[in-house]
Amino acid sequence: MTNDKIIVALDVNTLKEEKRLLDILSPHVQVFKIGMELFYSCGLKAIDLVKKYDRDIFLDLKFHDIPNTVYAASRTAVRFGVFMFNVHASGGMDMMQKAVEGAEEESEKLGVSRPKILGVTVLTSMDTEALKKIGINKSPEEQVLHLAGLVRDAGLDGVVASPEEIGAIRKATEKSFLIVTPGVRPEGSDHGDQKRVATPKEAFQRGADYIVIGRPVTKAKDPVKIIAELKRNL
Ligand code: C5P
Repeated sequence: MTNDKIIVALDVNTLKEEKRLLDILSPHVQVFKIGMELFYSCGLKAIDLVKKYDRDIFLDLKFHDIPNTVYAASRTAVRFGVFMFNVHASGGMDMMQKAVEGAEEESEKLGVSRPKILGVTVLTSMDTEALKKIGINKSPEEQVLHLAGLVRDAGLDGVVASPEEIGAIRKATEKSFLIVTPGVRPEGSDHGDQKRVATPKEAFQRGADYIVIGRPVTKAKDPVKIIAELKRNL
């Protein structure tokens, strides 16, 4: 049985590698994340390949542009048939509202359900010092909460948030507001370049709706074993 709460990041740059992972993982995982690396390397073919396996796609391209451009890009994401996509919350209210509007209009036109739209708040690579340098005099947590409020008010479905921020966001938002959390590491695994990590179990206990996991699964000798362990420990 597949698990639709565990999203596996297909962070590879060839269709061959993507296919290898889908062959192994698609019997166990329902949602796969396609980010910039795979999309800019292989384009629509990368999306079509996941669809061939009858699996869902989280398109992680983090749109950030003027409202009109994001409106058009969001319509395109609907035409791609993705299950979920994201925009940068720092693009502002108008931009986020236009993302929702574009996705709604295109979904209605095609007679499909609208993809979930997430706001990216503060990148996990940014700390207080980095925020200060771009003119934001707040801690990452304060800024995350501020932007999560805007994301909700703009009508998006939820946010991408690090394990450390889940609790505060959950407290400040309704249960239906989605929290999608990368930076999860199974107990005892290598953290890679992720600094603020939690185990999948901790992430769900704090209130995450989905977890995104990449290298601990995709680089494992036996990815299926890691997924099975993840499910057992949830
Ligand atoms: O390999 P790893 O489990 O660290 O992969 C996490 C995935 O989630 C990567 O695709 C990364 O780009 C993405 N991500 C993240 N932190 C964010 C947003 C997205 O790690 N704040």
